[in-house]
Amino acid sequence: MSSPAKPSSQAGQGSAARLSAPNVAIAGVTGAVGQEFLKLLAERDFPIGELKMLASSRSAGKSIDFKGKTYTVEELTEDSFKGVDLALFSAGGAQSKKFAHAASDAGATVVDNSSAFRMTDGVPLVVPEVNPDAVKGIELGKGGIIANPNCSTIIMLMAVTPLHRAANVKRMVVSTYQAASGAGAAAMAELEQQTREVLAGDPVTMEVFPFQYAFNLFSHNSPMGDNGYNQEEMKMVHETHKIWEQPSDATGGRSAITATCVRVPIMRAHAESINLTFEKPLSESEAKALLKDAPGVSLIDDRGDNRFPTPLDASGKDDVFVGRIRRDISQPEDVGLDLFCCGDQIRKGAALNAIQIAELLL
Ligand SMILES: NC(=O)c1ccc[n+]([C@@H]2O[C@H](COP(=O)([O-])OP(=O)(O)OC[C@H]3O[C@@H](n4cnc5c(N)ncnc54)[C@H](OP(=O)(O)O)[C@@H]3O)[C@@H](O)[C@H]2O)c1
Repeated sequence: MSSPAKPSSQAGQGSAARLSAPNVAIAGVTGAVGQEFLKLLAERDFPIGELKMLASSRSAGKSIDFKGKTYTVEELTEDSFKGVDLALFSAGGAQSKKFAHAASDAGATVVDNSSAFRMTDGVPLVVPEVNPDAVKGIELGKGGIIANPNCSTIIMLMAVTPLHRAANVKRMVVSTYQAASGAGAAAMAELEQQTREVLAGDPVTMEVFPFQYAFNLFSHNSPMGDNGYNQEEMKMVHETHKIWEQPSDATGGRSAITATCVRVPIMRAHAESINLTFEKPLSESEAKALLKDAPGVSLIDDRGDNRFPTPLDASGKDDVFVGRIRRDISQPEDVGLDLFCCGDQIRKGAALNAIQIAELLL
């Protein structure tokens, strides 16, 4: 097995002409993220030579239309990646662990949406607006694995990095309000079904989550660690340190981060409440000006009309929406701020971010 980001033995196989329209494979094409990949590739007119649609044996043989052509879904196997330059993976961590190296060894550059390789040394963990330089040295069609961060991490860092660059985040306290779509297509279907059942007075069907989801909320469903934090919460901590290049041996330079992640009965788009302590003073108006100019960020911040970002504002949109930017009155003047943000985690939290990574390589 090759090391994760190592170029494949078939490196250099693809010709320059082919890479102007790379051959693309989507692993997990039938899922929530996979379907969003297709929408975005079409919307952004991403140049594609040949396209392969991959999923489990359950979906093999199904037809999916893309840009006026009908494709047949194939079963994802180790042999799926011959001649593929770019492999977009969203088939779950187990499939990434099983097949991403085979894809890289076959010459495909893998952009992986799962958590399988995010914290692996040598695998870049990338938000294009935050750390685009992390992909330097990786060439499309020459193997290698790049990881897409966790959706909650991406949305948080889109809102906070412009402020961090200006005033250095000393401490960050984040609470999330996470949508059903973050748990995939089946969770969205379960929320819809339960909502109908509750309104009809019927008993609710619980298959994806062990709790009633409609008209309820609960601590994030990822496994709980010994320290009392669930995995989603610890991803937000560890991934931020990696993306901001704050390694564990840094002497005092690491931002202190704590997170509480909660699943709420929203169909699509996560929200996050974020409290920040800065090393240097940063006023409300400076923060607003920085966020107004930040790529991929939109401000909705109208105190008079009580108009701030909502998950519906963000659903189906590329930008992360930020508002409720206010001085934290519990901290000395200008070193503490609160804000609220919403982002479509299937889009910016997953498929869009991955395609933006691929665009860095074109
Ligand atoms: N949803 C989000 O907002 C989000 C955000 C960031 C990252 N992610 C990550 O992206 C991945 C997919 O998430 P999702 O929400 O799209 O899930 P999903 O809707 O449940 O879709 C899962 C996809 O993986 C495929 N798959 C499952 N088992 C497979 C197998 N044994 N072999 C090949 N393909 C298999 C499924 O194919 P079948 O239809 O054939 O079963 C389907 O295409 C996960 O790793 C998730 O953590 C999701």
